[in-house]
Amino acid sequence: MQRDLDFRTINRASWDERARAHAASPDYALECFADPAYLSHEITFDRARLGSVAGQRGVHLQCHIGHDTLSLARLGARMCGLDFSPMSLEEARKLARAAGADIPFHEGDVYEAPELLGHRAFDFVYTGIGALCWLPDIARWAAVVAALLKPGGRLFMREGHPVLWSLADVTADGKLCLEAPYFEQQAAQIYTSPGTYVQTDQVFDHHVTHEWNHGLGEIVTAVLAAGLTLTMLVEHDSVPWDALPGHMDRLDNGEWRLSDRPERLPHSYTLQAIKR
Ligand SMILES: C[S@@+](CC[C@H](N)C(=O)[O-])C[C@H]1O[C@@H](n2cnc3c(N)ncnc32)[C@H](O)[C@@H]1O
Repeated sequence: MQRDLDFRTINRASWDERARAHAASPDYALECFADPAYLSHEITFDRARLGSVAGQRGVHLQCHIGHDTLSLARLGARMCGLDFSPMSLEEARKLARAAGADIPFHEGDVYEAPELLGHRAFDFVYTGIGALCWLPDIARWAAVVAALLKPGGRLFMREGHPVLWSLADVTADGKLCLEAPYFEQQAAQIYTSPGTYVQTDQVFDHHVTHEWNHGLGEIVTAVLAAGLTLTMLVEHDSVPWDALPGHMDRLDNGEWRLSDRPERLPHSYTLQAIKR
């Protein structure tokens, strides 16, 4: 029955149901934003690579509960966020309101972002950490990013590495096995999972998601084809969440890294590209 529904309807139901649990979880640690100097882990991790965004107009695509959006606003950017999950945006608005930040959050599909945002031109587009896997067509996404940027504006993102997304669960003897597609496929990978990636006691009704992987070369090619120039591509040996439970160590900087020979695995990457 669920297979007949549009993938957006299926995925949105999953995100809507999980948004409140995410906002309440120790993993997102939203209570830390009570300190006006606090920035999310993700923004802190990339702070030096990001450089100054003060005074710049930025849009956070697939902003979820808005913790990175608020962090970018705290660095002086004039931010707005976009996400298709109304429950996520409810949490994002609550967080921004509590912090006294004026951040408009727009509801809609990322592929429709230019129209939804009134064809405004931004100094930067920020996205990442579990964003691209929800999108079937990476070239279309890159065209959207290009349409949102003014000439000289930049895309800045950090994502889970497509090699990480293609792994099966780690075997008992520590072997990493490639299981899901690395390259973009027309057909979605259909996953069934009762839980989520944060600690929560909440029980969820929606377990199915439709996802797509995109190879690193496909992502870079899409960005270049959309008229952007690549200015940074750094692969990291850590991720900001426990991506392979039972097989990762928590590092002092709050990141997670494969315990056994982490040098085998590109965990995540940061990418920056500038619109010509
Ligand atoms: C893992 S979050 C990424 C945000 C952030 N990195 C985080 O970890 O909170 C993924 C977000 O993508 C949104 N999303 C998924 N598919 C979407 C689409 N087609 N259009 C807009 N938002 C979408 C979901 O609602 C969810 O809030």
